[in-house]
Amino acid sequence: MQDTSDADSFTSNLSSTHSATSSVYDFVEEHGRTYHKYKQGKYILPNDIEEQNRLDLQHQMALKVLEGRLHLAPIQNTVKNALDVATGTGIWAIEFAQQYPYASVTGTDLSPIQPEFIPDNCKFEVDDAEDEWVFSKQFDYIHIRFVMTCFPNPKVVIEHAFKSCAPGGYLEMMDGVFPLHCHDDSLEDTVLESWSKGCHEAGTKMGRPWDNAPNYKRWMEEVGFEDVKERIFEVPTNPWPRGRRAKELGMWFNADLQEALSASRVLYIKVLEWAPEKTDAFLQEVKSDLMKREIHAYMLIHVLYGRKPLQ
Ligand SMILES: C[S@@+](CC[C@H](N)C(=O)[O-])C[C@H]1O[C@@H](n2cnc3c(N)ncnc32)[C@H](O)[C@@H]1O
Repeated sequence: MQDTSDADSFTSNLSSTHSATSSVYDFVEEHGRTYHKYKQGKYILPNDIEEQNRLDLQHQMALKVLEGRLHLAPIQNTVKNALDVATGTGIWAIEFAQQYPYASVTGTDLSPIQPEFIPDNCKFEVDDAEDEWVFSKQFDYIHIRFVMTCFPNPKVVIEHAFKSCAPGGYLEMMDGVFPLHCHDDSLEDTVLESWSKGCHEAGTKMGRPWDNAPNYKRWMEEVGFEDVKERIFEVPTNPWPRGRRAKELGMWFNADLQEALSASRVLYIKVLEWAPEKTDAFLQEVKSDLMKREIHAYMLIHVLYGRKPLQ
């Protein structure tokens, strides 16, 4: 892993395609978007400002789902060491550090896209969560959110979390499931349905199916977490449902999805091998479907937490 405050001196030793002097701050540019350079190609989605804005929007949606809370696990105010795996822009880690000023909060990611000015009790490191975790301390709270596009074997990451969790500490996970769901037949045969199935198909083709979240509870229990609690939320794709909370959730998720469309372009072009012109025309149609309130689509979001036994 690499502390990003010292990133300029970092020397990549990861693959022959990297120059020996490449810095973790280097990005790879393709079709007008940028991607992570450290372990280049591991993660398919971009890491540029456009994507960072999307992640920050998605964070607001996640807060809305949890009614303003950063976590559901019953952690104490005395939490000492917290870890946010695949932290993205670090927005969750920064807010957690502000909420728990006595905690020391570490965020890790393949991309050093976190801001420079952060609370004193927060730091970021470039790290691949699939590698062995070599932290010098154990964490009493580990958080992993929105990683459905990330790991070929999420259970390995859950195992790493178990080993790095202090006895009595918690792992909390929050993740969505694709394809989209619908309570009636209004999603059937729409371009929106086809897009959500296409994303899932691309993920599956890359060995990272987007429907792993329903397995998290079992995997957490199998690696040793106890008292694993799970809640499942329905998040509408726009404000189509009645009720203030559902409408607000729909507005946030819609904003996230609008941004996600251009990030998903790479899935269609690179993984499903569609022509760029066909992809762009298709995404325009998806954009218009996303605004239709007569399509009653929603995404399932699973939130789980479990405790590492004291013994
Ligand atoms: C959809 S974003 C979620 C970011 C953040 N967890 C949040 O909820 O705002 C997924 C993040 O996982 C990171 N990522 C993907 N594969 C990773 C890996 N093997 N190790 C560490 N981070 C990874 C990506 O760089 C990206 O920032």
